[in-house]
Amino acid sequence: MSSTPRIPFQIFRPNNSYQSAVEKLNGQYEHFRTNVVQKGCIEKLKRWYPNGKAYLTQSATAGLMMAADSIEFAPGDEIIVPSFTFVSALNPFVRRGVQVVFVPANKKTFGPDLDYVQQAITSRTKAIMIMHYGGVPCASHQEITALSDLARARRIVLIEDAATCFGSMIEGKPLGSMGDYGVISFDITKHITSINGGLCLVSSEHDDSNVAQVYHNGTNRKDFERGSVDFYDWHTLGSKYAMNALSASILLAQLESAAEVLGHHLKLSKLYIDHLEDFAQQIARQVYPRKEMLSNGHLFAWIVDDAEEQKALIQFLGDHGIECHSHYRALHASPMGLSIGKKIGDFTFTEQLPFRIVRLPIHTGLDSADIIRIASVIKSFYLN
Ligand SMILES: Cc1ncc(COP(=O)(O)O)c(C=O)c1O
Repeated sequence: MSSTPRIPFQIFRPNNSYQSAVEKLNGQYEHFRTNVVQKGCIEKLKRWYPNGKAYLTQSATAGLMMAADSIEFAPGDEIIVPSFTFVSALNPFVRRGVQVVFVPANKKTFGPDLDYVQQAITSRTKAIMIMHYGGVPCASHQEITALSDLARARRIVLIEDAATCFGSMIEGKPLGSMGDYGVISFDITKHITSINGGLCLVSSEHDDSNVAQVYHNGTNRKDFERGSVDFYDWHTLGSKYAMNALSASILLAQLESAAEVLGHHLKLSKLYIDHLEDFAQQIARQVYPRKEMLSNGHLFAWIVDDAEEQKALIQFLGDHGIECHSHYRALHASPMGLSIGKKIGDFTFTEQLPFRIVRLPIHTGLDSADIIRIASVIKSFYLN
């Protein structure tokens, strides 16, 4: 056992300015009613997401529920989804009675394999969901654009799950804003957080009045707030998807230093690459993301060969005071996935992947010395 300080997997970055934001709300009923803090967040977020419409939500999951409620699904409609993703991404569509069609992960980015996505398209395909794993684009800009063009030509809705991608860009475009709908998560597990929270990005090509109704319990509350109607009424499916003012106060404070936080994450990610990539190659392992990949530094992982090595390495790092974790399970092989899903493609790699990822700590509580320490413990696991 090590006597050096423990390195936690994740931290909540201390920030005093959120307390003053919360203090301003105290006793101010009108501030809650008029969503003054949420509006402040949306204003700040315009810098990150200048195009289309952005809705502040309770979570990325709520953003996906908004997309699911906004799309007109008919019986028999299908949605193509990655098997390797977080479970909350699929529930919104299953609830609406949509047939899920799983595709495998690609070996490079761990996002969905876009060749299989194309193979899975049928006359019943109503939507395609892509997912960018750990802040890394699932494919090249050209490939994503080609998919988006194909989807538009076939009248298929493209949903971009960019839950872990706050701050990730490809060819100047923020991840999350390339599809018809995109989501970002501000969960406590993300580097910019509102504890629970998210963003639903809606392309400007969509009927915003419909999405706005979905966001407000399926009502035209927005017209009421504008003063254009005396009462608001129930028009469509929807729910109370909006983020609350306390979460928004935390987010507002977090956004003040977002660029700095992202810079720190990218610095740590680069340090991991500098200290681990060559070694990984020498012993036929991998780091994720690799040097040439675009990323926001949200996640850094060491890729092992199998479940036995994964378990032993996580244990070894834990014994040395370093908390590490595996990640998503393959959803096509879950009890629910098996009972409701169809699948297209070869899932050998996708079924191995959950047992090959060891996520390493990456957060603002760490400095270069910590990364060097983690890298040296990983090396000692293989060399001793
Ligand atoms: C790919 C993906 N989609 C969706 C989510 C759900 O995000 P939230 O917890 O904000 O609902 C997550 C959570 O990490 C995720 O990793």
